[in-house]
Amino acid sequence: MSDRSMVAEVEARLAERLGPEAFKHSVAVARTAERLAEEYGVDPEQAYLAGLLHDWAREMSGTELVASAREYGFEVSDVDGAVPYLLHARVGARQVVEAFPGIDGEVVSAVSAHTFGDDEMSDLTRIVYIADMIEPGRDFEGVARLREAVGAVDLDELFASAYTETLLHLVRSRRHIHPQTVAVWNAIVERGDS
Ligand SMILES: [Fe+2]
Ligand SMILES: [Fe+2]
Repeated sequence: MSDRSMVAEVEARLAERLGPEAFKHSVAVARTAERLAEEYGVDPEQAYLAGLLHDWAREMSGTELVASAREYGFEVSDVDGAVPYLLHARVGARQVVEAFPGIDGEVVSAVSAHTFGDDEMSDLTRIVYIADMIEPGRDFEGVARLREAVGAVDLDELFASAYTETLLHLVRSRRHIHPQTVAVWNAIVERGDS
């Protein structure tokens, strides 16, 4: 099934699955990801679909997320245990494959990596991460700068700026930092994107 023909079915199932706010956010991320994809030479249909699906597991409880993660054989770190919400990306990716057999693997990777990235990040994965942060409903210090940077800087730089905002937010609000977040940040620094 092509990405385009899957969209209507995904939207219908998502509307049943998520509350109105989360559904609205998902559509906003899909539209923002589509626009970023057009700007940065990525398949816009793939980006729209990945944006729609990124929060598939967002409304599962912490207990359900930890149980699902263990069932799927994921390593559940201390930070995952303390902040199970972080698992919604990886658990969601697995569920999306079960719900939509034949779905594009790149889309699944983008869903899986949308909370804190991954060792290998495709352009699509970066786009969904950024779209999740800057969709029109988001409001945080620095969001305007990120929105203005779209198209003005390359995708690596835009992602590095977005990730910097995430880290600053985590530190300022004294939240846990997932080990994968540290790994992604170090990869950004090694590539010289920051
Ligand atoms: Fe999410
Ligand atoms: Fe999201």
